Amino acid sequence: MIKSKIIDYLKKAISVNLRNYPRLSASMVEVFIPENEKFGHYSTNAALKLAKILKRNPIQIAEEIKSQLEKQPNISGLIDKTKIAAPGFINFFIKKEYLAKRLKEILKKKDKFGQGEPKKRTIVVEYSSPNIAKPLGVHHLRSTIIGQALINILRFVGYRVISLSFPGDWGTQFGLLIAGYKKWGNPEKIKKEPIKEMLRLYVKFSRAAKKNPKLLDEGRKEFKKLEQGDKENRRLWKWFLDESLRDFERVYKLLDIKIDHTIPESYYEPELKSLINNALDKGIAKKGKDGSVVIPIPNSPTPEIIQKSDGGTIYTTRELAAIKHRLKKWKADKILYVAANQQTFHINQVFRSAELLGFAKSGQLGHIKFGMMLAPSGKKFATREGRLIPLEEVLEEATKRSLKIVQKLNPQLPKKEKERVAKIVGIGAVKFFDLSQNRLSDIVFDWNKMLNLKGSSAPYIQYTYARLKSILRKSGGPQKTFNLSLLKNEHELAILNYLLYFPEIIEDSAIYYEPNRLAGYLLRLAEKANLFYETTPVLRAELKLRNSRLALIEAISLIIKNGLKLLGVEAPEKM
Ligand code: ARG
Repeated sequence: MIKSKIIDYLKKAISVNLRNYPRLSASMVEVFIPENEKFGHYSTNAALKLAKILKRNPIQIAEEIKSQLEKQPNISGLIDKTKIAAPGFINFFIKKEYLAKRLKEILKKKDKFGQGEPKKRTIVVEYSSPNIAKPLGVHHLRSTIIGQALINILRFVGYRVISLSFPGDWGTQFGLLIAGYKKWGNPEKIKKEPIKEMLRLYVKFSRAAKKNPKLLDEGRKEFKKLEQGDKENRRLWKWFLDESLRDFERVYKLLDIKIDHTIPESYYEPELKSLINNALDKGIAKKGKDGSVVIPIPNSPTPEIIQKSDGGTIYTTRELAAIKHRLKKWKADKILYVAANQQTFHINQVFRSAELLGFAKSGQLGHIKFGMMLAPSGKKFATREGRLIPLEEVLEEATKRSLKIVQKLNPQLPKKEKERVAKIVGIGAVKFFDLSQNRLSDIVFDWNKMLNLKGSSAPYIQYTYARLKSILRKSGGPQKTFNLSLLKNEHELAILNYLLYFPEIIEDSAIYYEPNRLAGYLLRLAEKANLFYETTPVLRAELKLRNSRLALIEAISLIIKNGLKLLGVEAPEKM
């Protein structure tokens, strides 16, 4: 990668002068992509950092580094020139020949361009993880969409990734559901609309229990029976679980989500007793007077309960068993939890407990947090009759609105094709809207932004892609004779250079677990492509130039398509 090459050059150039400079740390020689191409293709603030430590003039240090850089033989193949900019940046300009060489590489490697070497490291990514007997909530959707994009990206850079969901299917609430079912349930209704009916029974029962606390005991009893293996309760619970998982599967299919393993909480039930006993034996956990078992966590206000006073287990106990199992089964180097900001405290406590128990080393467990998705009003998503607005309705609406867009853009397209494209655009828009924003911030659902053909949206990129593909179709297929040195107007050079950032952007998206870096890159690439397309004649240009421009267009479309694919968004050939 170009960036790492420049870092190496820099390090060498600085160490020649090491007598005068402090010891180098990695953070001292950082290279970044400047916002504006005026400041080169890459830039470093290394001289500014050194100047601060040495209390010297940064420009002077930049001059010293620059002259050392120019003495290195290799740099001439890659760097055209370096320039110093106030207050002490060193900016690097890449050679045109080098850019052309890499463009050929894109055309050759196609969707493999930017792919990393296998890293021999395994990451388990836990995502989605809905609770059964309830519809998927908005936070589960964010987890699902962000999680899948991260999984795709991590795989692309070379990790072995195991993707899994950890549905919540155990705990007192299922006792309440069973009690509710026994009182008011009707198997036909469950078969017809499983999630809706289970939620109705649960809500009805817990409302009734608020007025009559005796019912709560009834629910607890049903859960106890379930834990102890009561046949009827097991049957009901298993039925609820299967129906729920089937329903989730339908949603995943709509969103093109592929989860390798679905391992619900209940899976760990048989191991919990010994886990608790081991924790006590090791002296990590302590027994309370009331019979509960807790893990005291240094510097945390609350100890983590792993056994209730009635001897029952708790969510955390199952979380801990899951960590142990995942690290062992897949020899995982890391487990990432794609889960909402609000879960931070709980997840932290679980991680610390797992470390105290020796299940995981520090740094092996990571929480990939995200903010809330708010309704257009800026408030939490409203529930309708106690249930969330179903995702299908959102996707249907997105598709309906997209159909209007496609209708306007391309009225000649056959009806069936329009409908197919509208689906790609609608679902892509919903996903991209989520993925293009900073993962940690709360985001406000907004149809107009999501579907704005001229804005920061999937349809904008998809439309750019379709336009590029249409030029390629009109040109009559791949061209053999081109001469990339003919590409030299500012728009061409800007894109040529921007295309090469792709592998680095992917790598950064993987390092920081931020798909929005890739999304932002694709938006800017589409902008540059449009600028090029609108200012530079392609099909009407003289043959060699025409073919070279077509080669550039081919490369742009390859990168857009592959970038979107990593985000889980499809790119239609026509729109
Ligand atoms: N089931 C939880 C919920 O619905 C999410 C679980 C997140 N993952 C975890 N291991 N805590 O909110």
